[in-house]
This record gives sequence, structure tokens and C-alpha cells, in this order.
Amino acid sequence: MRTTDIRRLFLDYFRERGHQLVPSSSLVPDDPTLLLTTAGMVQFKPYFLGESSPPKDRLVSLQKCVRTVDIDNIGTTDRHSTFFEMLGNFSFGDYGKAIAVPWAYEFLTDVLGLAPERLWATVYREDDEAVELWRRVGIPIERIQRLGVAENYWDTGGPGPCGPCSEIFYDRGPAYGREGGPAVDTDRYLEVWNLVFMRYLRGEGGDENTIPIVGDLPRPCLESGLGLERVAMVLQGVDTIHDIDVMAPVMARLGQLTGADVRAEGQRRPARIVVDHVRAAAFLLADGVLPSNEGRGYVLRRLLRRAIRHGRALGVDHPFLHDLAGTVVDQLGQVWPELTERRGLVEQAMGHEEDGFGRTLVQGARLLDTAIRRTREEAVRRSSTSTTPTTPAQPELSGRPVLSGRTAFELHDTFGFPVDLTTEIAAEAGLVVDTDRFEALMDEQRRRAQRARGEARTQGDDRGRGQAYRTILDRTGATRFVGHDRLTEEGSIIGLVRDGTEVPAALEGEHVEVVLDRTPFYAESGGQVGDAGVIRTPDGSELRVVDTGLGAGGDLHVHRAEVVRGELRVGQSVHAVVDDDRRSATARSHSATHVLHAVLRDTLGDHARQHGSLVAPGRLRFDVTHFAPIEPDALARIQDEVNQRLLSDPEVRIWQASRAEAQEAGAIALFGETYGEVVRVVDIGDFSRELCGGTHVGHGSQAGPVRLVGETSVGSGVRRIEALTGLDALRYSDHERVLVDQIAALLGVPRSGDILRRLQGRLDALARAEGELADVRQRERAKLAERLAGKGRDAGGRWIVAERLDPPDVRDGHDAKQGEEIPALVDGVLAHCPPGRPGGAVLGMVRDGKAQLVLGINPAMEQLTAPARDLLRPAGRTIGGGAGGVGRIAHAGGREVNRLDQALAQAAHHLATSTRT
Ligand code: SER
Repeated sequence: MRTTDIRRLFLDYFRERGHQLVPSSSLVPDDPTLLLTTAGMVQFKPYFLGESSPPKDRLVSLQKCVRTVDIDNIGTTDRHSTFFEMLGNFSFGDYGKAIAVPWAYEFLTDVLGLAPERLWATVYREDDEAVELWRRVGIPIERIQRLGVAENYWDTGGPGPCGPCSEIFYDRGPAYGREGGPAVDTDRYLEVWNLVFMRYLRGEGGDENTIPIVGDLPRPCLESGLGLERVAMVLQGVDTIHDIDVMAPVMARLGQLTGADVRAEGQRRPARIVVDHVRAAAFLLADGVLPSNEGRGYVLRRLLRRAIRHGRALGVDHPFLHDLAGTVVDQLGQVWPELTERRGLVEQAMGHEEDGFGRTLVQGARLLDTAIRRTREEAVRRSSTSTTPTTPAQPELSGRPVLSGRTAFELHDTFGFPVDLTTEIAAEAGLVVDTDRFEALMDEQRRRAQRARGEARTQGDDRGRGQAYRTILDRTGATRFVGHDRLTEEGSIIGLVRDGTEVPAALEGEHVEVVLDRTPFYAESGGQVGDAGVIRTPDGSELRVVDTGLGAGGDLHVHRAEVVRGELRVGQSVHAVVDDDRRSATARSHSATHVLHAVLRDTLGDHARQHGSLVAPGRLRFDVTHFAPIEPDALARIQDEVNQRLLSDPEVRIWQASRAEAQEAGAIALFGETYGEVVRVVDIGDFSRELCGGTHVGHGSQAGPVRLVGETSVGSGVRRIEALTGLDALRYSDHERVLVDQIAALLGVPRSGDILRRLQGRLDALARAEGELADVRQRERAKLAERLAGKGRDAGGRWIVAERLDPPDVRDGHDAKQGEEIPALVDGVLAHCPPGRPGGAVLGMVRDGKAQLVLGINPAMEQLTAPARDLLRPAGRTIGGGAGGVGRIAHAGGREVNRLDQALAQAAHHLATSTRT
């Protein structure tokens, strides 16, 4: 049976039993406690917790999941994968295990046709009811096993819903392992389905054997997860999930690409790892994750770099991941259209990562090999000379040599080795990594970077503020936003918050956050900044709103404002007026952003996707996934195309649709954003269709001109484009025109004249003059050197010059290239030293109110004396400073200008008498 059939049969089975089909959520969950979507229940957490209501009490889904907890098992077992598809049925306070158990059994045996005598079940050790239910459907008591928390309790690992669970296993037969059921061997007995009886709320903490339960869920629920790949493995009669219909072709392609026998002992594990990781990485990329050193980006980077490394182990030495990803898309693009849509992005991002890491992999691996070898040799040496454990850094891990945290840090920092990869390679060689030290070094580096960015950590009163918003919301309900239709509205104040606390009133001069029941003010979201404007009361009080944001999870519009006149009270009715100019200027930027997005995709390719944006009055910032700088001429073409499209005056049409309809119609949904069932679609002409909640102009030409003014990199694979729109674009052009006028006036050419040629002529003339001046200076310096050399005297066979430069000489000796010419002068003096004699020269001068000394010695003198810097140091101290320099030239500076002569004499004395000690 093909995976396509299994998916369909499952969804149909539960739809026929009153379940509503809910689409898979993104792999990037809308949940700050989770890095990735690891199960079908993740998107439903608010329903379990009673925070919001499900569209129906029975739901069914096919969810894409990524889990990396089992990453070390990939390729070693037959059944683990980081990416998998999970089928699940869910009940929110509707049916419980008494119904879920018989359905699960019926689906597996009747619908899929699994042999009943091969099925086993495990239940939480105290769950007598579940034992009874399995027995009743036909699993004999000897194939039902009771296990503990580690096996039969489910949660997401952090605060949230949890409950005991019951798992169904398929016995693959004696060829696959030991007798005794899943309690004994989970290779032979393959877990296919998990039914979770969600009842409790868990808190922080806990471990393998204890769950910190802090309360009950509002109502008992049920959730389940059937592993598609595993069921397919059984139904398709193959030994591993790597052999099922959607994976075998990827494996075969890897064989072709590498020429390796991917089934051979020794090649099998790296091959499976590569295929597994490419699958997971393709899905993560398609959901908008890009490789980075933190969070989800790190998970992705680790998968990709691990795949690259294992690819090298298979003998491939050229970029190959993107090719393999293509086969993944071929296999799964029908079921997961985002793969097909973002194929370009997936392939490019993989190629980019492989280019970068492929370059440093060899060097890094060499460094690591050497470090491993040294650590092992050291461990052997120590153990033969001492009886104490060999691991000073982490004694608790004694017995295994410790690879230094600094090596791991260097590998990370310079060669891009994720620390987990280093740990893994070290472990293969029998070493552990000093991760404490590694983390300490990382922390230090983060702090340095933070300081460099001058980041101030503001904790503020966010927590109190959040609480205040919630109270307001509970009391009065959500704000109604009317600002898509009009810019003024009558409403009333439903809450005032000052410094994170609710207040009944606000007085003139106070800064306060105001919540209204109805408002025309757009609140910052989807990259678009919030509205500004004024709010007035009938009795003449007035508030100046500087910004508007969302509060209470998006249900409230919060106006950040200052009371400029009178007094505001909760309950008062008000007249709210949005600043029209600012709103229009913002709308122009927003429509321009959509057009720019469309043009970028047409110009750069399909991989060019919005990665973030800022839509502000008169300007916009657009982050786009693209893996190389956009060259100036390409940028100029893009700007041209954007303006042409706007000038063709396309209609901006805004309509509402169900999410499914909108996607059917090809609307671009942005990464990581979640939309309710009804979505707002913004069309511009026939070339742009996006899901968007923002404000727009009515026709393209109202957006006015667009000027692209910047293109920079923001992290790997993302370019940032900055642009001005409407009046601001015009003003920018005007400003440039004025600048050109001023330049023309300075050059004395008419504006229409050949400004560039004239400017080039001036620059050439200037360069010539500078060259001539330098020649003159050099001749002057040579003369000065000769004059100074004339003062050379003999001191016991050494030739010594110690002179003070007068102001004009200071100028001759020193010019534009600060600091470089006095040493040249000293060298010039030394060149006059009689042949074969040891010579030294020290020059002193006062410049910018400071005393300065430069001392030089020739090679013959260098043989006799201390280094130049040491010779000068006492004199340097005399003028109130130290001495620096390397080799035969040293310099010193200090504030004691009156002691310059004394210092010169001192330096001369040392030149005459110093010996090597
Ligand atoms: N959440 C459970 C699991 O992942 C069942 O969906 O196993």
C-alpha cells in the first residue's frame, strides 16, 4: 500500500466519524515554548488548555513534524527519522479512550489489514481501564504490557497539557529481535500509534520518571499520532523506513550521485543520515527557516552540516544536497505543495550552505583530528605516569579523555562546526568535549558582541503590562478595528495603562497607553508600523497618539499617547482621528512592498522570498532570501520595473476568503505567520496576490515613485533592500539634484555641462600636484637629513646625532601621512653615518603641544646595544610617556615639553653607552 493511500484512508476514516480535517501547521510553531513542531497536537495546545475553542470537538490532521531528540539513532535503527508525517485524531472533551481504542484497532486491522495477532499494546501502569479496552477489542492480555512514565506518559517536554498514553506496536517477527514484547525490544516490536489521554497540566521541571502536574485541563481530551512512515514500512513489507516508497528514490539518487553502494556495511549509516537530514532540511527551509547559529536556524544548520560531512564519508566531494533535495520535492511535492513552491529557495539555500561549509570542512576536520590525537596521547601519557583520573575539567566523566572546550569553540567560530557535530566526531573517537568551557567561551563572545552593538537590556514592566491588557480584555472584550474603511471613529476608553499598571485616569502631560472599544488606528503588525493621530473627548481633552500596537495576544489596539490637554478617564467617549498624511505615506510603502516582492521574484528567481519587512511612512525595508549580493545594475533594473508596474496604475483589490480558497488562488502566505480561517487577500493588478492585513493605496500610481537606496546583507542568505516611496522618494531625488547643482557650482560648470569630466580633470590635477609636493618634501627632507647628519659626533667609536627639530623642520620632516615621515627622516640621517660605524640618531620636537622623540639605530649599532625601544624608554619617561616601536626605530611622546632637551641628552647618553646585557 502506498503512503498516499494510507494518508487518504486515515483522513477518510475519521472524517466519516465526524472529524473536521485541519491542515498541517508550519514546522515553526506559534508557541514560544517550542522550537519546532514535534507532533500533531502542537497546533492544538490552546484548545487543550481552554485558551481558545476548536472549530469542532473532533478534528483530524496530517502534520509534518521534525524531532531531533533521536538524531543519534538515525541510520542505526530501522525506524527513526528527524522528519516524519504524523496522522492523528483529536477529541476536545468529546469522546475518550473507550471510543478511541476500538477505532484505532479497527483502522489498523480492518482498513489497513494488519494481522491482529501481530499487534501489541502498552499502557500506563495504573491504567486498568485501557488494559480492559484493549482486551475487549481482541488483544490478549499477554500482549498488553504496563509501563512507566518514561514510556507511557506524553507531554511536549515543557509546561502544557499532558496525560497517560497507550501505544500500539507491530511485531515484525523473530528475525528482528528478541521475544518479550515492546517492554523488551522496540526494534522488533515497532511502535506505530500513540493514543494520549490528555487530562493534566504540567509545569516546569520533571524528568524521565516524574511529571510535575500542576492542575487539570478544563476538560479531558484525546490526541493521537500514527507514524506514517512506520506504518508504510510494515504495509510495504520493507525492513526500514528508508526503503518506503517516498524515501527509496532519494536513497537511489544518493547512490547515483556518490557512486557508493548505499546498502553496503559502512556506507549504510552515512547514506541514511544524509537522506534523512536532506528531507528534514528541505521541509524546514520551505517553512522559512534559514541556517544560522541560533534556535531553529541552528537545528537546520546542524542537519545540513551533518549531511555534508556524511556525504564526504560516502566519497562525494562536490555540492550534492540540492540535487538530492530535488528528489525529495519530486516525491513529496504533491502532498506538501510548499516544497514545490519553494523548490528554488530550498535548493539555493542548500547550495549556499554547502559552498560555505564545504570550504572549511577539510581544514576544520584536520584541526579536529590533530586535537583528538593529541588529547588521546596526553591521556595515555598521564595514565601511565599517574594513578589519578585523567580528566581534570570534568572529573565526573572520568575514564574518557576530554577534548578542550577551546578547540570546540575554535571549530565553531572559525570553521563553522556546530558543537554537536564536534561532540559527535569526538565521541566516535572515544572522547568527550568540555562543553562547560565551550559554553563559557560562547557566552563571553556573545557578551562581547552585545557590548559592540551597545545593546541595552531593558526588562521594563512588560510582564505587568501584559497582565493589565489581559484584565482589560477579560472585562470588555476585543477592540474592534474599523480603520480599513475610515480614518475617524467614535469610541470609548475601555482601559488606561501607565508604567505597566491599569489606572482610572490620566492627567495633562502624562504618557499613557489607551485602549478603545473601537478604533480606526492600525496597530503595528505584519511589518507595518502603527498609526499616529489624535484622540479627543467631547469636553475638550486631547491626546496625541504617537504609535499604536497590539496587546493581549493581538486582541487589543493599544494607543501610546501623551495627554496634551485636559484629563482622560476610563469610560469616557472619544473621537479618534488618524493622521491621514502618515497613514497615506505608509499605505504607499505597503503597496510598493508588494510590488517590489513580485518584481524580486520575477527578477531574481523563485527562491527570492520575503523574510521580513518594515513598512513605514515614506520608506520600506524588505528582507529577501537570496544568496549573493544584488549588483547595482540589477538593482537599477528592479527599481525601474517596480516603477513601471506602479505607473501602469494597477488596481489594488482587497477581498476576504477562506484560507483554503486563498491558497487555491495562489496567494503568497508568509513564513511563520498564522492566519485565521478567514483571510484577507490583497491583489495588485494581475501580478501580485498576498495574504495581508495591512493598509494599501487604491491604485498603483498612488504609491508614487519608489527609489531603492540600499542593499546590504543581513545574515547568511538574506539581503536587505531599503527604499523610499512617494513624496520621500521625490524629496530624495530633489536632494540629490541640489547636491549636483552645488557640485557644478563649485566646479564652475553649468549643471548641464560635463560635470564628471570636469571633476575627473580636477582630481587628476590634484593627484599630480600632490605627487609634486611629495617630491619637494622629500628633497627638503634629504637636505634636512644632511644638515642634521652634519651635527654627528663621535662617542667612543659610535656616531651619534641628537637634535631638536624647530617648527619649520617639524613641518618638513612630517606631513600628511602622520607619523610616517619623522622615522623616514631618522633613516635619512643614519644613511650619512660613516661606513662601517655603529650609528644612532634621536630627534626631538614639540608638536600639537606634545613632546615627541624618535630614535633610530643602524644595523651595526643594533649589534652592540639594547633594542631601540629600551634605549629610548628613560628619555620617554622624562617627557612623561612610555616608548614604543619595533626593530631599529622607536618613538615616545609625552606632555613634558619643557624637558625635551633633557630627554634628548638622556637618549644620546644611552646611544653612546648602552651595551647588550
Ligand atoms: N503526541 C503523541 C506523540 O507524539 C501522539 O500524537 O507520540
